[in-house]
Amino acid sequence: MLKTILVLIFVLCGVYLAPVNFKEMGDENLISDVDVIEDSIKEDLSESPTRVKRFNAKKHPYLRWPNKTVPYWINMTFYTSEHVQQIEKAMREIENVTCLKFVGRTYQHDYVTFTGNTKRCVSQVGRNGGQQYIRLMPTTVETNCFRLGSIMHELVHTLGFYHTHIGTNRDDHIKILWENIDPSRQNDFKVFLKSDEVDDFGLGYDFDSILQYHSKAFSANGKPTIVVKDPNIKPNRMGQRKSLSRGDVLRIRKFYDCDDEPNI
Ligand SMILES: *[C@@H]1O[C@H](CO)[C@@H](O)[C@H](O)[C@H]1NC(C)=O
Ligand SMILES: *[C@@H]1O[C@H](CO)[C@@H](O)[C@H](O)[C@H]1NC(C)=O
Ligand SMILES: *[C@@H]1O[C@H](CO)[C@@H](O)[C@H](O)[C@H]1NC(C)=O
Ligand SMILES: [Zn+2]
Repeated sequence: MLKTILVLIFVLCGVYLAPVNFKEMGDENLISDVDVIEDSIKEDLSESPTRVKRFNAKKHPYLRWPNKTVPYWINMTFYTSEHVQQIEKAMREIENVTCLKFVGRTYQHDYVTFTGNTKRCVSQVGRNGGQQYIRLMPTTVETNCFRLGSIMHELVHTLGFYHTHIGTNRDDHIKILWENIDPSRQNDFKVFLKSDEVDDFGLGYDFDSILQYHSKAFSANGKPTIVVKDPNIKPNRMGQRKSLSRGDVLRIRKFYDCDDEPNI
């Protein structure tokens, strides 16, 4: 009997701690400049292997980086010191307005590897367990994946956040024009979180988020794929990759309890 209970506890813990491989988030950043070429990334968004509470970020405690710290390692096979500086600059920008720290990996089990064997900019969402990736195609700094804002965008995915336009409240604020979307990218516009898995922190829909696609993202025909419902909101607000929006900062700070424990 005791043995059974012990095995059961072990199994439960195992399930709880097992690495959860969520889908990597591909990006729209390259569409205007380069053909988007798929890596060997599973694109099926319709079913995530585990359903856990999420915000636009995930609520599951294991998926949040512990100690407000994200260990990382950069595979220098692909990058120059300018690339490294740009990656670290993006980290400093996020650290500056939140309580997060990005630290070089030493012994940590869970960490992010930056690698360049891709033609895209891609990140996994939240902590997945073990090694996980941010893939940034090595380009001239300040272009494509190496724009500062593009790296920040990927880092915010890594902290646990999804694209704004797949939030469950999106249909109140935007309309998706499916007929204009490149058929191979339609999955990127599907809402696959359920409303009880998401919390917008009462901040409403954030058109200015660094995680919001621009209005013609993945267009097959040059026409908009995302239109704003409120005529007072300018569509070109969407898709900025300059800095975190006020909402981005507030969401990260809430998700990581930045204001609860100021000195930790
Ligand atoms: C938590 O993070 C801080 C700052 O990065 C670090 O100094 C400290 O050693 C970490 N603590 C643990 C338990 O990992
Ligand atoms: C760095 O990337 C190269 C090329 O993909 C790969 O062969 C190598 O194993 C990577 N290094 C580590 C330590 O993962
Ligand atoms: C950090 O934030 C302050 C205040 O918001 C700002 O003046 C400064 O330029 C920021 N520094 C960096 C490196 O982002
Ligand atoms: Zn993205």
